[in-house]
Amino acid sequence: MSTPLLSTSSTSATAVGTVHRLGSVDQVPVGEGRAFAVDGRQIAVFRLRSGAVHAVQARCPHKGGPLADGQIDGSIVLCPLHMNAYELATGCSTTGQPALAGYTVAVEDGELVLTVPG
Ligand code: FES
Repeated sequence: MSTPLLSTSSTSATAVGTVHRLGSVDQVPVGEGRAFAVDGRQIAVFRLRSGAVHAVQARCPHKGGPLADGQIDGSIVLCPLHMNAYELATGCSTTGQPALAGYTVAVEDGELVLTVPG
């Protein structure tokens, strides 16, 4: 079953793109991913046990699988549909698929802050 999309709480424009404050980082449990609807895109945010956060396109380039529902193995997410693997830091597939689009995400004052290039 697919997790429902979460939405943004506020936005602002900068020279590098549109900054979206997605709300509390606790919406994404440690070791999991969640999908957000941002500017008409679906973006998956992952929170690693190391404390790192990563954001990539939410739909798998193979056949559209929900990457936010995938298993995280260290720094890699496995798509739940056919188990293709993607490096979260780079978006590159380790199983021969096209790379994922990546987005800049950080945690500021306990909130996820995502930048979408404009
Ligand atoms: S849809 Fe993701 S591996 Fe096939």
